[in-house]
Amino acid sequence: MIWHAVALTEDVAVGGVLPIEIDGQELVLWRSASGELAACDARCPHQWAHLGPGGAVDGEELVCLSHFWRFAIDGTASKLAMNGRRDDKGSVRTHQVRESDGGIEVAITTD
Ligand code: FES
Repeated sequence: MIWHAVALTEDVAVGGVLPIEIDGQELVLWRSASGELAACDARCPHQWAHLGPGGAVDGEELVCLSHFWRFAIDGTASKLAMNGRRDDKGSVRTHQVRESDGGIEVAITTD
């Protein structure tokens, strides 16, 4: 496993989304409302919207603003209906992320 230094802790505030690129792969870092840091592929598995400019954190989920699929920190996806029902959707690939000494590192998940 190769760790890549990609950002500073201060670059990803609570509720923030930061686009990054590692070896030509587009990813996003995002931090949930509780402060947990996550890394996933940047492209939404629905219609490929970029979750950097086109995503927003809502609580413990990253929401794609194109059609409102919601991604949990583990990458599982759902869509919340008006009546509160959650429908499962296609997951986004996640990557390992760690923070130390004010820096953020990511290890790419290989398929
Ligand atoms: S492109 Fe993300 S929900 Fe449709």
